[in-house]
Amino acid sequence: MKDIIEIFRDGHHEFEKGNLDKIPSNSPFELFEIWIKEAFDSGELESNAFVLSTVNQDNIPSSRIVYFKDVVEKQFVFYTNYSSSKGQDIASNENVSMLFFWPKAARQIQIKGKCTKVSAEMSDVYFSSRPRGSQIGAWASNQSEILSERSELEKRLNDYETKFPNKVPRPDDWGGYQIEPLSFEFWQGRKSRLHDRVQFDKSENGWDVYRKNP
Ligand SMILES: Cc1cc2nc3c(=O)[nH]c(=O)nc-3n(C[C@H](O)[C@H](O)[C@H](O)COP(=O)(O)O)c2cc1C
Repeated sequence: MKDIIEIFRDGHHEFEKGNLDKIPSNSPFELFEIWIKEAFDSGELESNAFVLSTVNQDNIPSSRIVYFKDVVEKQFVFYTNYSSSKGQDIASNENVSMLFFWPKAARQIQIKGKCTKVSAEMSDVYFSSRPRGSQIGAWASNQSEILSERSELEKRLNDYETKFPNKVPRPDDWGGYQIEPLSFEFWQGRKSRLHDRVQFDKSENGWDVYRKNP
């Protein structure tokens, strides 16, 4: 542990990958699209993975990675188990934050917004597009609940394989969430820690745009 901490302490790298001197669009959605495409095209691994942070009933935050799947009517969509820890958090507090990090481009985007369930029809369409293994897995896994041993999961997997030999229906507690963004912060790493930070806050007429100190 000490060795690796030493490496981090000595390691210092300059961010010189780009800049936001000129903001390419006054729509945060357009800028998001440009950046995620560039992340994907540059071969960034897991370019559509983001950190989703939620807050539970006791005001304790949690973070985990999920996959960004779509933007529908200006809302960011991801899929998960509604009974999971994150699902329970969202049920009691709709405020969430999303964080994308693309190290190759020295960029991060933080989005804060309100999270609600997508329609059952939309979840059905997405669920039916998934590979059979993932569909059966969604039935077998009581996500976030205690598992006494791995074999319990394997057994449930086998049981559902038998139960659904053909089409696998979507479990009621599995589906999509949509996040309506209220703010975006685009961060571009720059030299000497003088990074660009451009914030978009939702206002009555659109978006208020301003820069923040790095
Ligand atoms: C790259 C990556 C992508 C993931 N994508 C998803 C996802 O789209 N949906 C999901 O429920 N969990 C996903 N996970 C697993 C979550 O990080 C997490 O372990 C799980 O959702 C349980 O979270 P919770 O107990 O906080 O609810 C992903 C994990 C990684 C590392």
